Amino acid sequence: NLPRKVRIVEVGPRDGLQNEKQAIPTTTKIQLIEMLVDAGLTYIEAGSFVNPKWVPQMADSAEVFSGIKRKVGVTYAALVPNLQGYERAINVDANEVAIFAAASEAFSQKNINCSIDESIKRFETLIAAAKAQKIPVRGYISCVAGCPYSGDVNPNTVSAIARDLLAMGCYEISLGDTIGVGTARQIKTLIEAVAKEIPTEKIAVHMHDTYGQALTNIYASLEMGVNVVDSSIAGLGGCPYAAGASGNVATEDLVYLLNGLKIEHGVDLNKLIQAGNFISSALNKPNQSKAAQAFKNK
Ligand code: HMG
Ligand code: MG
Repeated sequence: NLPRKVRIVEVGPRDGLQNEKQAIPTTTKIQLIEMLVDAGLTYIEAGSFVNPKWVPQMADSAEVFSGIKRKVGVTYAALVPNLQGYERAINVDANEVAIFAAASEAFSQKNINCSIDESIKRFETLIAAAKAQKIPVRGYISCVAGCPYSGDVNPNTVSAIARDLLAMGCYEISLGDTIGVGTARQIKTLIEAVAKEIPTEKIAVHMHDTYGQALTNIYASLEMGVNVVDSSIAGLGGCPYAAGASGNVATEDLVYLLNGLKIEHGVDLNKLIQAGNFISSALNKPNQSKAAQAFKNK
């Protein structure tokens, strides 16, 4: 029952880098994005337009967007929390924006400084502006499998938010296991609940690998018919408001899995590994992708 084709949403330049404490030159970010596109990725979340006091690493996102050599057919998307962020993103020609709500009140307060309801209201004005300018809006829901502050999250809470975001105009909802606590059966139950409210084709999964469960959870999602998967080059990532949250699933590892399953994705694994090695050495870190490490040692 696996999908024939998967669309990979590369979030490394945003989710992967947002939590890095060291300064990363804008030119390094630009080079990374161009290498990812050269490897065949067609959807890159290239930065975010949030309050730079909250997430200093993304303060240069406008320069990143202005600096990349664009390739036709590639979507360069931006994460935005409010109308101000939307306008900053559109100013530098982001092709799409992504908004982010949470399935937990505590996380919503820490991450975006407002309640879930308030965040939905903010998104209404943002989505109205995006509709007028024909800019597609993607929606994230964080903490779908658990919250770092309040623990368990009810799948019905997630599915209700997914329904609302879709009704408001998001074209796809990415379910974020922000702290990577979910396990396969739980994720299946979650997707079953969400699929009662929105079509499965509109569900994406965004798995952090904190407990080593990301690939397993992705496989469980594929079995449920999900065919859009978020991932991050070299397994980079984490959320500044989720202590201990480690990286997203590594794009290299995801591609290795999809290759084995004979699921189409359009990405060249060798070039992808080069991009992962490039950013890992720029950050002076070991590449966290297992596949990249294995190919290096071969
Ligand atoms: P706030 O402080 O409540 O905002 O922050 P405010 O509206 O009261 O404004 C305060 C100041 O922020 C003002 O400036 C605004 O101009 C400025 P001041 O007058 O003090 O000089 N401001 C902005 N500046 C630039 N761009 C903007 C913007 N908005 C306001 N867009 C806010 C509210 C939402 C802005 C803040 O909480 C914020 O920026 N949060 C960002 C948090 C974040 O980026 N978290 C990480 C991404 S989410 C994630 O990683 C999860 C995900 O990967 C999925 C998953 O894994 O689950 C997506
Ligand atoms: Mg994330």
